Amino acid sequence: MTTTLTNQQFRLAARPVGMPKPTDWRFTSEPVREIADGDILVKTLYLSLDPAMRGWMNEGKSYIRPVAIDEVMRAGGIGRVVASKAFGFKVGDIVSGSLGVQQYWIGAANDKTAAFYKVDPKVAPLPKYLNALGMPGMTAYFGLLEVGLPKAGETVVVSGAAGAVGQTVGQVAKHKGCRVVGIAGGKDKCDFVVDELGFDACIDYKNDSVKDGLKAHCPNGVDIYFDNVGGQILDDVLTRINMKARIIICGAISQYNNTTPVKGPANYLSLLVNRARMEGIVVFDYADRYHVGVAEMAKWMREGSLKTREDIVQGLENFPDALSMLFEGRNFGKLILQVAAE
Ligand SMILES: NC(=O)c1ccc[n+]([C@@H]2O[C@H](COP(=O)([O-])OP(=O)(O)OC[C@H]3O[C@@H](n4cnc5c(N)ncnc54)[C@H](OP(=O)(O)O)[C@@H]3O)[C@@H](O)[C@H]2O)c1
Repeated sequence: MTTTLTNQQFRLAARPVGMPKPTDWRFTSEPVREIADGDILVKTLYLSLDPAMRGWMNEGKSYIRPVAIDEVMRAGGIGRVVASKAFGFKVGDIVSGSLGVQQYWIGAANDKTAAFYKVDPKVAPLPKYLNALGMPGMTAYFGLLEVGLPKAGETVVVSGAAGAVGQTVGQVAKHKGCRVVGIAGGKDKCDFVVDELGFDACIDYKNDSVKDGLKAHCPNGVDIYFDNVGGQILDDVLTRINMKARIIICGAISQYNNTTPVKGPANYLSLLVNRARMEGIVVFDYADRYHVGVAEMAKWMREGSLKTREDIVQGLENFPDALSMLFEGRNFGKLILQVAAE
């Protein structure tokens, strides 16, 4: 039995070579079936567009299985329960989970891959649950605090500073009494992180030398580098690290669309000289403690000491172009696709 509803979806049509192209996607439409016992039907309101999605499109071993050809593209999102035969979920509930790039999600409410949990729209506007109160915020919070181990007075450098993870890293570091220097593309983004978010300085890597900027803004060297971009910027920061520095490998967006091998750090012997360490982080490892990060950051948001910026693109049909915004620096803040009105 089907309902009168239709579900539009983006499915992976081909594994991209380099930057994803429109032909890597197939736009499909199918009827929504009736829900069975234990099921919920969720209407997608917002989807989180993340650099990691590029990795999920590749074949090969990673921290999560690749999206299969013809499968609906994986994406986290926020939706409203519009039908329920599941204990604990009622029509009108707002949930966060892996909804996929589609208008509706249907299935067992306890599906582990969807990993639904309820969110409270009274605590914060819904897009914040895909930013500081969601996956990017948890990455920043646990990555900085548990891998970076910041101490008051230390200097923290973060790349991708105006983006979803970077914004929060810098502000959490300020909460811990650190000096914070961002690295971002363009004057507007640099002005934003300094003037609006309270970073101490920001280096515009598209127009200025990162090495000169680090010399000028990190006079005492770099104790923590939160790396979102990899590539040349990582190498430049390695030349300025202090004894016992911590480098958090969160991502390497400059390398995700390479058609040649990933550029690894040439200056890695700086780790030896400085008895420093480089450590990766995968946010999902902290899932059982997200509530701790959410509670503290929601408090900072209420107090006005944690600000976030979202960049919301309208319309499911704009998904392919919206995703490419991330790799061209066209997003200004956490990139979100609004699929339906609240
Ligand atoms: N390990 C984990 O668990 C985890 C979780 C979430 C995210 N991440 C990683 O964290 C990083 C940031 O993710 P996000 O969601 O916060 O994205 P984002 O920063 O909101 O958006 C991506 C930004 O990356 C920058 N960028 C794009 N191409 C670049 C290049 N070639 N060189 C330098 N910068 C470039 C652009 O900013 P500019 O305009 O400033 O260049 C762009 O706006 C990504 O590497 C992502 O994969 C990891």
